[in-house]
Amino acid sequence: MPILIATPDNIRLAADALRRGELVGMPTETVYGLGCNALDEAAVRAVFAAKERPADNPLIVHIADMETLLQVAEALPADAAKLAAAFWPGPLTLVLPRNPALPLLVSGGLNTVAVRMPDHAVALSLIRAAGLPVAAPSANRFMRLSPTRAEDVEPELASIVLDGGDCRVGVESTVVDCTGPIPRILRPGGVTRSDLEVVLGHSLASPPESGERRSPGQYPRHYSPLTPLRLAEQIGEFEAGLTFGEPFHKLQIGMPRDPLGYAARLYAALHRLDKQDLAEIVVESPPEEPAWEAVNDRLRRASGDSG
Ligand code: TXA
Ligand code: MG
Repeated sequence: MPILIATPDNIRLAADALRRGELVGMPTETVYGLGCNALDEAAVRAVFAAKERPADNPLIVHIADMETLLQVAEALPADAAKLAAAFWPGPLTLVLPRNPALPLLVSGGLNTVAVRMPDHAVALSLIRAAGLPVAAPSANRFMRLSPTRAEDVEPELASIVLDGGDCRVGVESTVVDCTGPIPRILRPGGVTRSDLEVVLGHSLASPPESGERRSPGQYPRHYSPLTPLRLAEQIGEFEAGLTFGEPFHKLQIGMPRDPLGYAARLYAALHRLDKQDLAEIVVESPPEEPAWEAVNDRLRRASGDSG
């Protein structure tokens, strides 16, 4: 799998590959995606196979314009339209009624579909050049860390990886279910709850009761390095991991104290430590504040603690 700098020529090559039903590693503002033609069932099947992802774990369909939305979704409810107008292109995924023309496998067998318009020039050019809606999960194997740099995409997954630089947001998009009477967050992410509520002018519905099935594909253990990860108040001098303080040695990575800066660096830092043959990665717990919701969610899942 060659990693190609995302020049206009290479974007055209990648768009041709998508049209042929191949898989392309694609930069977005959140994490790298493993893209395929959402309308080609065989291509979608290849994504599930490459990732070793269970077939009931639905993919997000990426679009570059609002016209394509109705090829994918059957309707855009009023609140969803408000959110799309405010946050697209951007790190927000809307769950909408599915257009029956879309292969059922994209939606993991559900009658809904998750859609987003990524805020990344390379992703948008690629989708436009291919002329297709692009289904793309994060470009990692099932349950593993998402990649935020082209070189962290696993080489066997795609036929081409377009290198569009480091992802700006660094955690996945916020997934909002817009198929019920009041929208609700299924996965915290790049857009915060309060950002959404300001635009809607009302509160979001409360999260699903524990026990009730949440968003399919949201597992307690998820987004994990291979090395066991433990959350702690403070990292010890001889431990390896992520710290808010001054690192004691090179197996400690100093992290920003602001949630956006932290999110942007999180997966790259964990990928780096995961390659060091460590017994354990210790991560200093960020504050339990709304602005840290997405980061705390990913860290809890990476530590195997249910979120
Ligand atoms: O930022 C992102 O969202 C990245 C980039 C590549 O766009 N993509 C991503 O995809 O994180 P993935 O496949 O790793 O996570 C998609 C999640 C699923 O695990 C599931 O929880 C939710 O989106 N999802 C997808 N379709 C859904 C549906 N129809 N109903 C409810 N949840 C859905
Ligand atoms: Mg993922």
